[in-house]
Amino acid sequence: MKALILVGGFGTRLRPLTLSVPKPLVDFGNKPMILHQIEALKEVGVTEVVLAINYQPEVMLNFLKDFENKLDIKITCSQETEPMGTAGPLALARDMLDDGSGNPFFVLNSDVISDYPFGELINFHKSHGGEATIMVTKVDEPSKYGVVVTEQGTGKVERFVEKPKMFVGNKINAGIYLLNPSVLDRIQLKPTSIEKEVFPKIANEGKLFAMVLPGFWMDIGQPRDYITGLRLYLESLRKKSALKLASGAHILGNVLIDESAVIGEGCLIGPDVSIGPGCVVEAGVRLSQCTVMRGVRIKKHACISSSIIGWHSTVGQWARVENMTILGEDVHVCDEIYSNGGVVLPHKEIKSSILKPEIVM
Ligand code: GDD
Ligand code: MG
Repeated sequence: MKALILVGGFGTRLRPLTLSVPKPLVDFGNKPMILHQIEALKEVGVTEVVLAINYQPEVMLNFLKDFENKLDIKITCSQETEPMGTAGPLALARDMLDDGSGNPFFVLNSDVISDYPFGELINFHKSHGGEATIMVTKVDEPSKYGVVVTEQGTGKVERFVEKPKMFVGNKINAGIYLLNPSVLDRIQLKPTSIEKEVFPKIANEGKLFAMVLPGFWMDIGQPRDYITGLRLYLESLRKKSALKLASGAHILGNVLIDESAVIGEGCLIGPDVSIGPGCVVEAGVRLSQCTVMRGVRIKKHACISSSIIGWHSTVGQWARVENMTILGEDVHVCDEIYSNGGVVLPHKEIKSSILKPEIVM
């Protein structure tokens, strides 16, 4: 089977992290977002993944070359010269997706995290005989997503409304699809939205089905959702493979620590923290609800909560970093500094406190 991942876009909502790498390569739970997806696809027998991309394909391909061999899966890029939206890229990659076998293929938004129940998706798709299946999930704030109204019992989609202004329902498109090759006949080679132009038509013909996604789901394309997503991901890891999580007197709740990270005496870490490879967390540090990416050093007695610390940054002694502070790559926060929601661009040195949420350029 084949899969296409919609990678395009500049990931502006995850800046400053996306100033260093394309969004799918931003680490989440100690590995690039896209690897979570590729590994799960491999598990259900996908042999080739096409990355639909309109931005820095070299960076992605160079990075993923290693994983092609490690995971034994073919990864190719389909590059757009202009943004083709969420359906246009399928037309562009048509020859790669339709190999004549008639097999359905997966399409994923690159910024969604879940347990990726692809096996269940395949079974459901086979059972209904329609043309396309989308996974749906319930959220509190449906207006920022595509809302899906289904027939009770069968899952047949009655309506698909992208970003509705008025309340339509609370089941939303999770950005995970399984499509028959015939869907490709509905898409022209031009910028097209699958949500606004393709799904509503298939739904009208009664050939679009929705399956409620079992387990957790989050679009992690924005900092606050990223932090929530980390909590859900770690919770799910606790149920599936608890041994991957850290344990000990200095750990509270679910914490993921790379084995190469060094943790000092007297720290208190958790809940909902990930600490990446090569990090050094010095003595007496307090961390909660945060991501600390590869190569970061946190000096003695610093306190970090609800924040993301980008690759190779340092946080000084007695510093306090909180309230959705996002440090880009290689940022240095001096000793005793306070950051309340600072969003700091890569390679900066922070010498004075950031008292209210703001972007530091
Ligand atoms: N190749 C390519 N080209 N990819 C694109 C383009 C493009 O022109 N535009 C967007 N994408 C990719 C994004 O990178 C992302 O992976 C996916 O398409 C969806 O785009 P977003 O910009 O993240 O859309 P959204 O989050 O507002 O809404 C979408 O996702 C929701 C779930 O998170 C829609 O699919 C909604 O219906 C859905 O509920
Ligand atoms: Mg999104």
